[in-house]
Amino acid sequence: MDTTRFSNRRVAITGGAGGIGQAIARRLVAEGAEVFALDRKGLEGLPEGVSGLELDLGSPASVAEVVASLYAGDDRPVDLVNSAGIVEDDVAAVDMPIEQFDAVIGVNLRGVFLTCQAFGRELMARGGGAIVNIASMSGNAVVNFPQKQSAYNTSKAAVTALTKSLAVEWGPSGVRVNALSPGYVDTPLNHLKAHMHDTWKRDVVVDRFATPEEVAGSVAFLLSDDASYYVGAELLMDGGYSLR
Ligand SMILES: NC(=O)c1ccc[n+]([C@@H]2O[C@H](COP(=O)([O-])OP(=O)(O)OC[C@H]3O[C@@H](n4cnc5c(N)ncnc54)[C@H](O)[C@@H]3O)[C@@H](O)[C@H]2O)c1
Repeated sequence: MDTTRFSNRRVAITGGAGGIGQAIARRLVAEGAEVFALDRKGLEGLPEGVSGLELDLGSPASVAEVVASLYAGDDRPVDLVNSAGIVEDDVAAVDMPIEQFDAVIGVNLRGVFLTCQAFGRELMARGGGAIVNIASMSGNAVVNFPQKQSAYNTSKAAVTALTKSLAVEWGPSGVRVNALSPGYVDTPLNHLKAHMHDTWKRDVVVDRFATPEEVAGSVAFLLSDDASYYVGAELLMDGGYSLR
């Protein structure tokens, strides 16, 4: 690993206290970045070298406050990884309360829009940077089985569409926006559904879930100069799940 690949880079990770977010934070610190974990909870147990900032993605004011504090006294650009996301209970679409639909879209899509807009504006003012949005194979590649998650799946498809739209608007200003779509990853998000793991694994070609570290490696790639020609791409890493 090149411990200087991200020297002099600053990166903020929403959901940075979560399973995937922490792995991304560890990876970027190991490669020399200054890393900020933005989350609504869990900030007391962050990996070494990671600074925590409280963020409520439901609040535009909270997003603006975090961005202002990142640039207070330091004008260097801050790249962005959107890893925050929620999954609600499995509910058939015909029975889904609109409040549940709104809650999922509110964090997974509206929240991503808010942070992209606030961070993207600052990156463009400083000549460019990189944004990586964690979408999901559940957005475009598959409809997961057996769980009924129409709101989640829709939110992730929309994250990819948003990523492409922003990439086209901001690419000429030097801001690369890309999406990473993992399949099943071994994190707390999935532990509640342990009874479904055998069903899920049956269709993973490599017969296991991804590790958060594997996701982090792909995020690091998309942030790096090696991905300089990736503009509005969706990288699918699903262990072959969508091929079955
Ligand atoms: N785990 C998987 O199998 C998997 C697969 C594909 C995609 N993803 C996506 O990867 C991302 C990370 O997932 P994870 O497994 O690390 O989940 P996680 O639950 O461990 O982490 C998500 C983090 O987002 C934070 N968050 C939620 N709502 C927030 C809000 N309103 N404001 C600020 N922070 C908020 C949570 O506090 C949590 O720390 C999510 O977007 C998820 O949809 C996960």
